[in-house]
Amino acid sequence: MKLVIAVIQPDRLDEVLRRLEEKEVHLVTVASVVGRGRQKGIAEVYRSHKEAGSLLRKTRLEIAVNDNFVQPTVDAIIEGARTGQIGDGKIFILDLPRCIRIRTGEEGSEAIG
Ligand SMILES: Nc1ncnc2c1ncn2[C@@H]1O[C@H](COP(=O)(O)OP(=O)(O)OP(=O)(O)O)[C@@H](O)[C@H]1O
Ligand SMILES: [Mg+2]
Repeated sequence: MKLVIAVIQPDRLDEVLRRLEEKEVHLVTVASVVGRGRQKGIAEVYRSHKEAGSLLRKTRLEIAVNDNFVQPTVDAIIEGARTGQIGDGKIFILDLPRCIRIRTGEEGSEAIG
């Protein structure tokens, strides 16, 4: 299992969710965050909303998937979020040792999807 974390532009969220659904990826956590990339928060002029100090408003997605869903998930995020401009975002892929559905106690592959 892997945990796919993506930081994207807030205005790309709807399109990313649509692309994920097309690939049968439905379970997702979404958070509003602030952050900065390698431009060190210098506003991505025409696109990002500037927040406190050098931080810009971003949207963070967390998607836990079985291994065979990693590439479709990454593809969907890129298809939905890429514009070719600075600040399109980044994807982090982490090993995920455990996942537990609280209601049933199921673990692993059975709990994840
Ligand atoms: N190495 C990192 N560690 C933690 N968060 C990061 C990292 N790189 C990017 N982020 C987060 O992702 C957001 C979007 O990053 P961004 O797309 O600006 O990356 P970049 O490396 O600056 O690439 P680009 O040159 O395309 O802008 C940042 O605002 C920050 O929240
Ligand atoms: Mg950047």
